Amino acid sequence: MTRSITISPITPILGAEVHGVDLSEGIDDATFAILHGAFLDHGVLVFREQGAMAPDVQVEFARRLGPLHEHPAAPTDHENPAVFLIRTHSASPISNGNGWHSDVSCDERPPSATMLQVHVLPEGGGGDTLFADMEAAYATLEPELRHRLRDLSARHASEHVYRGRYADRGTEDEGTTYPETVHPVVRSHPETGRRSLFVNPSFTVAIEGLDEAESDGLLTDLHAHSVRPEFQIRLRWNRNDVALWDNRRVQHFAIWDYWPDERCGHRVTVQGDRPFFDPSGDDPPPSPLRMSIGHLA
Ligand code: SIN
Repeated sequence: MTRSITISPITPILGAEVHGVDLSEGIDDATFAILHGAFLDHGVLVFREQGAMAPDVQVEFARRLGPLHEHPAAPTDHENPAVFLIRTHSASPISNGNGWHSDVSCDERPPSATMLQVHVLPEGGGGDTLFADMEAAYATLEPELRHRLRDLSARHASEHVYRGRYADRGTEDEGTTYPETVHPVVRSHPETGRRSLFVNPSFTVAIEGLDEAESDGLLTDLHAHSVRPEFQIRLRWNRNDVALWDNRRVQHFAIWDYWPDERCGHRVTVQGDRPFFDPSGDDPPPSPLRMSIGHLA
């Protein structure tokens, strides 16, 4: 069974398509070992030609990567509370993930991995998901700027993201406090040791120790750099495709360009470690794609 799996890179920088395994049938340990290695190598895996996964099967796969993460705001309105029902339709006031982010980066221990299967696609097309590689974003900064960023931390907040967000799905949040925390601007991957930029425009509100104008300017420049087209892939979903992405390495953006159509899926998220920077690790060599960010370098 494991011999027929093929893993084809989407670009030399990010992502791979996986063929020859149907996750809805469950997998054995040898298959998981291959997929886990590919996940660490490529950051995003896209499984094509899948059957619809039963919620328990999806949860069982995710648990192989670690204990599951509990979302601080999303309603547990699926029959299996570990499953986050992704659903956008004509009356939705917002669409989940419609902006660059790393999932729930406002948590002290944000999710390491997210697994999403899309079951209902917009009839008229659209609903793609973009991913951007924050390791490439870090590696392509000028060494002086990388050096400066390694000493900085940033505040990630969520009050502005989550307050009232799921009211249409019956979630009352009066009295709820939403998470806010400080993470290093450059993080080391706990499994590969590679470094990446860890700021995103949805949750990162300020760089610690800088005045507001300097912090806003630096974040604006880093956000623009992070989503350069060279670092991106665009996932055009087929029904029942599964994506598995590494939130320690990528940001993503679920494009809401299909109103009034409907799009639905099941998402399961794995608990990650507290982000850290390991000063004893290696910096990537200078990249031919590197660019200076003007006055900041
Ligand atoms: C998300 O987790 O941000 C949603 C991704 C998607 O719906 O494509």
